[in-house]
Amino acid sequence: MKSELYEVPEEFQLAERPRRLRRLQSLRLLVRETRLSSSDLMYPIFVDRRITKREEIPSMPGIHRLSLPELEDEINEVTALKIPAILIFGLPRQKDPLGSEAYASDGIVQQAIRTVKRVAPQLVVAADICLCQYTDHGHCGVVRGGTVENDETLKLLSRIAVSQAEAGADIVGPSAMMDGQVRAIRTALDGRGFHDTSIMSYSAKYASAFYGPFREAAEATPLWGDRRSYQMDPPNRREAMREIAMDIDEGADIVMVKPALSYLDVIREARARFQVPLAAYNVSGEYAMIKAAGQNGWLNEKLVALEVLTAIKRAGANVIITYFAKEVAQWLQEANQ
Ligand code: PBG
Repeated sequence: MKSELYEVPEEFQLAERPRRLRRLQSLRLLVRETRLSSSDLMYPIFVDRRITKREEIPSMPGIHRLSLPELEDEINEVTALKIPAILIFGLPRQKDPLGSEAYASDGIVQQAIRTVKRVAPQLVVAADICLCQYTDHGHCGVVRGGTVENDETLKLLSRIAVSQAEAGADIVGPSAMMDGQVRAIRTALDGRGFHDTSIMSYSAKYASAFYGPFREAAEATPLWGDRRSYQMDPPNRREAMREIAMDIDEGADIVMVKPALSYLDVIREARARFQVPLAAYNVSGEYAMIKAAGQNGWLNEKLVALEVLTAIKRAGANVIITYFAKEVAQWLQEANQ
């Protein structure tokens, strides 16, 4: 073997050396393409009407169901961390076939919205519009003869939206995956003068196994069957574009892809195609996996969380809904000190 084959000749000149820009941390920061910021984040909060003291959700370490009086402290924490927005989920006192506490004017979410708007008027308050936490069968709509009735459900979703807008919600977020839900809600809101209440639609919401911990948290597991007749089939991307286009046409102000990590291609394509702000939901199962691996010492939780959230932003999300929001905001604050 001739050894000179392996030597770099003297006249050898590399045209491009990308490593030049990776030499120093300051240089890397200078040319960084995507910067995660606390202002990208929306923090989900669970409020439970039945409890008086916060309860940790076993599969979501660090996330609690709060009683209404405890909400104030939580809000103060969120605003101190400069997180611009929260997303409220409620657990009612009682469930019934039509999920009536979801649209009661003194429902837990409606009370929570009022509390937040009193304590922190500048904090963006979004509220989830769905029935599954409120129905005794655990489905996201009205059930008749074993199926979830689309058009019947639209009436209830509209009622929820109006009750949340009345309470002062800045954004309402339909997540039931009923056809026409955005149009129905926009019409109901406008009809009552709520022209300025925004709609963030869970447009491309997949029937995902990553919602497991959330269902435990919100006690929203369907009693029978699953959600595959209304949530999207995970292998489909073109269908997601159709859902998003329809929602924009129906009046959605912000559209969403959910979950985030297994659907980065969907986020990327949606960002390229549509002009409205795009949200991505880093869901409960995505959070639980990182927490579990971190607790076992198998992964560096902080670095992994920052990496995946940055990836969601790099894929094209403008709003990132994540249970990591408080921790990330804290880490980013420390990094800037
Ligand atoms: C309600 C709803 C769900 C989630 C948000 N809103 C659960 C579901 O559709 O089954 C999941 C959020 C998460 O997993 O973090 N329909």
